[in-house]
Amino acid sequence: MDRVGIGIIGLGNISGAYLKAAALFPVLDIRAVADLDMARAEKVAAEHGIRALSVDDLLADPEVEIVLNLTIPAAHVEVGLKAIAAGKHVYSEKPLGIDFASAKELIAAAEAAGLRVGCAPDTFLGGSHQAARALVDQGAIGQPLGGSATMVTPGHERWHPAPAFYYDHGGGPMLDMGPYYITDLVNLLGPVARVTGVTRTPRTTRTILSEPLKGTEMPVKVPTHVTGIMEFTGGAVVQILMSFDVEGSRHPRIELWGSEGSMVVPDPNRFDGAPQVLPQRGEWAEAEVTLPHGDGNYRSLGLADMAHAIREDRPHRASGALALHVLEVMESILAAGAEGRAIDLTTTCDRPAPLADSPVATAPVTTEKETSA
Ligand SMILES: NC(=O)c1ccc[n+]([C@@H]2O[C@H](COP(=O)([O-])OP(=O)(O)OC[C@H]3O[C@@H](n4cnc5c(N)ncnc54)[C@H](O)[C@@H]3O)[C@@H](O)[C@H]2O)c1
Repeated sequence: MDRVGIGIIGLGNISGAYLKAAALFPVLDIRAVADLDMARAEKVAAEHGIRALSVDDLLADPEVEIVLNLTIPAAHVEVGLKAIAAGKHVYSEKPLGIDFASAKELIAAAEAAGLRVGCAPDTFLGGSHQAARALVDQGAIGQPLGGSATMVTPGHERWHPAPAFYYDHGGGPMLDMGPYYITDLVNLLGPVARVTGVTRTPRTTRTILSEPLKGTEMPVKVPTHVTGIMEFTGGAVVQILMSFDVEGSRHPRIELWGSEGSMVVPDPNRFDGAPQVLPQRGEWAEAEVTLPHGDGNYRSLGLADMAHAIREDRPHRASGALALHVLEVMESILAAGAEGRAIDLTTTCDRPAPLADSPVATAPVTTEKETSA
């Protein structure tokens, strides 16, 4: 396999997970790293035996085919547009951007240049979520009627070293965690046609509880308790709650209800777990997960799929079209909450093909199991 050259821009909290998991995918060849903070880039480069470059030099580097954009959400589109202008494919952490209009420009620029945009999350490609998809496709719950998606946490200021961006424009629980849930639901049920929403912002300032900024007050500029209803084009109606204001919950993260039964879908922020199915007049039972990528942290799988897709000249799964649709769903739920009305979506997308249709070469996992927060 002709490996694909990757250059990473943005070396913060999540970059370690990518640098570690990339070793699982022979197609990925990380050739350079860059960050606004050059000292950080040099430190990471030294640890991994790769080159540290300035952002501009990385973008100009002929060895880099895909720019892996791990900057903060507010910089995703700007960095993505620079990558496309430099003739590189770009794969971004989620969300695709912090507003639908500018993210649309990124997709249009890539299309005009004949380049690819990929975007996290890729957890929907994990063995547990692919198993849930196969069950839906095989009719295990019959015709999907509805479901729920629930993510609650008291807030990332308890653990993230620099959590202010989660409460600034472009932050909030919907744009931060919504991508995992809505991407998984689109993979399971297809695209969304219409949404409504109701939002709350119970606190206008919050205090950082983690080091090194413990005690610092942060302004809250976005709704932190976001509820919505999503009407899927296939007919299913899913209620969603994304909150940074709730201590805990026993609601399943995702549950689906169909004409022939119900299903609890595993945590969409993880690759592992197993779906649970309740057939008509039967008992809840855990499904067996035999598909790959269900037993560890494979955060790079979507990037590896895109690298294979470039070499194999086929569509990649964690695509710009999927991420743009998910961003429009999220922004529309927030707008519906602000404006008190239902909003019709302007975008749609195809469900990505099951991963088993064109597998991604993977080395055996040697790392211990870990969370994929
Ligand atoms: N932290 C997590 O656990 C986590 C998990 C999943 C996804 N993500 C996503 O990963 C992305 C990054 O999150 P993080 O927690 O690593 O953030 P972070 O703040 O820890 O790191 C971001 C890094 O990007 C750099 N950067 C910012 N703007 C830049 C620019 N224009 N050019 C070059 N470098 C730039 C910063 O200097 C910093 O080193 C976000 O989109 C987030 O949603 C984070």
